[in-house]
Amino acid sequence: MTDHEKADAQARDFFDGLWRKGDPWDLEAHPFELAKYEAQLALLDADRGPDRRYGPALEIGCGAGAFTRRLASRCESVVGLDVAEPAIALAKVRTSSPNVEYLRENVMQWREGLAGPWDLVVCAETICYLGWLYPFFDVAWLAHCIHEGTRPGGRLLLANTCGGVEDYLLLPWLIRTYHDLFRNVGFVVLHDTVFRGEKNGAEIEAMITLFERSA
Ligand SMILES: C[S@@+](CC[C@H](N)C(=O)[O-])C[C@H]1O[C@@H](n2cnc3c(N)ncnc32)[C@H](O)[C@@H]1O
Repeated sequence: MTDHEKADAQARDFFDGLWRKGDPWDLEAHPFELAKYEAQLALLDADRGPDRRYGPALEIGCGAGAFTRRLASRCESVVGLDVAEPAIALAKVRTSSPNVEYLRENVMQWREGLAGPWDLVVCAETICYLGWLYPFFDVAWLAHCIHEGTRPGGRLLLANTCGGVEDYLLLPWLIRTYHDLFRNVGFVVLHDTVFRGEKNGAEIEAMITLFERSA
């Protein structure tokens, strides 16, 4: 087995296992998550207005589609992609919008799909898991492919918890490194915000950034 096949098997096993027991993050109902989704949508609307629709959109690590469903009315079409089969099965049941499609895929093995061209790519609370299981080079190459697959003038929404939780995957300097990686591959920062809220008794901070690929 190659290193890539091992990482792929590890990702599928780990996230299938998590989602088989239900949503580990309570993404559908927790007030913190719902408020964070609103903050993400506000950023998407910030300089376009709620009436401006995005073209084809991709959500990487969509889980059971809680945010994907919120994107549906703002985008011409949405592809939600997740490595966890139980998450994708739930997403399909919970989504009725005809312009949303879900795929059970490991984004690290989905190079042709990434080519887009996408008008919007969303990657929320997911890149920390890629950095956990894959070498830095592979994560950096993914960032490059996302940039190349975003049409000129298109957007990338990146959101990551980065404070208030004891988790080595979410150390603020790591999260800032992912943020800077997207700048280094060529995205321009349009808006950087810090979302604050309470979850499970902890005061949590999440960095939410809207990037643009230069025209
Ligand atoms: C914390 S959840 C975030 C869900 C969603 N983005 C949101 O903010 O509501 C992270 C998701 O990333 C998915 N994921 C992790 N590694 C992945 C990979 N290599 N390819 C695709 N999805 C992945 C997990 O299965 C999980 O559903």
